[in-house]
Amino acid sequence: MQIRSCVPLLLLPPLMLVAVILIADCTDLPTPVAGLSYGFYNNSCSEAENTVDELMKSFLTPNVSQAAGVIRLFFHDCFVQGEQQSIPNQTLRPSALAIIDQIKAELESVCPNTVSCADILALAAREAIKQTNGSGFNIPTGRRDSLNFSNYATVLGNLPAPTSNSSHLLSSFSSKGLNAIDLVPLSGAHTIGLAHCSSFSDRLRPTVDPRLNATFAQSLVQTCPNSSINVAVNMDTVNPDTFDNKYYSNMMNGEVLFDSDAALLNDSLTQATVEEFAAENHDFHIQFSISFIKMSMIEVLTGNQGNIRKVCSVLNTNTRSTITTADSYVAPELDTPPSYSSM
Ligand code: HEM
Repeated sequence: MQIRSCVPLLLLPPLMLVAVILIADCTDLPTPVAGLSYGFYNNSCSEAENTVDELMKSFLTPNVSQAAGVIRLFFHDCFVQGEQQSIPNQTLRPSALAIIDQIKAELESVCPNTVSCADILALAAREAIKQTNGSGFNIPTGRRDSLNFSNYATVLGNLPAPTSNSSHLLSSFSSKGLNAIDLVPLSGAHTIGLAHCSSFSDRLRPTVDPRLNATFAQSLVQTCPNSSINVAVNMDTVNPDTFDNKYYSNMMNGEVLFDSDAALLNDSLTQATVEEFAAENHDFHIQFSISFIKMSMIEVLTGNQGNIRKVCSVLNTNTRSTITTADSYVAPELDTPPSYSSM
């Protein structure tokens, strides 16, 4: 059974970048898996969603680029249970985890031992999308937190690599219950945020990937003289902090960074979806919200399968995450990149 719900969308119409039109669009939101529901905290902690939204606004207003870190942390948490507290992917932002820890601390004072970290991260990522001019939509809650951290092999085994081709991506997403129609909109999150040279240098050397626009490739080669340099570039060079469909027109112009981005044009079904989203921002936002909710329900723990952590980066058994704001192991660190290119 599908739930009929209204998805309010914030759209920036072409040639009217200052005008923001709020429209309401009704669509079928995915049915929550067993144990989750829309408005799960309505009775137990009615302030939960509003508290997350307000705190996210307070974090993002002075520094909207933090939105990307939270959204990516959520993607990893969906694909790798407990990954946010595991041996880290070296480019996850510790500040994203710190944001989640701070929201958790506030919610513990309002509703002790009630709202899980997994739900806080889901709600924070949802609000990060809205705060960057993406759509606002309902998301099911009721997740529990994992009882352990993932190990390095589990993290690597569950996440697609930026060097992935279309069949790798499709099989990775399929192993999580997602399909080609989910892969294309979810990859559209690369319309915001940063990437390090090391994540795409395979496309520059020893030869330049012919799918790259020549001028774009040349500027990347200059910005990234070698793959180990600690430089991060905007993934969308025009609107790096705006959650819009620009990623798809960039892709058709050869101006996306990863093999895994360019690969979406190498499969006929994903290619058709890319072309549709490049032409229709509205279609992108609608499908993104549906696929995002599907992603948020991958292998969720509910009821007695998990618990509610007291501190998100620490297991209730007192084991601390390897990612903290003070963690020097996590390098290169996006929050304080020694060198930054706005290209
Ligand atoms: C399709 C497979 C995907 C691959 C291979 C991939 C890979 C990557 C890589 C390599 C980076 C840059 C890391 C760096 O160099 O600093 C990145 C950044 C990012 N990714 Fe993905 N990603 C994928 C899907 C997703 C999904 C599904 C989302 C969310 C819905 C997402 C959201 C982001 C965001 C927001 C950033 C910017 C992070 C920041 O600025 O801190 N990605 N991704």
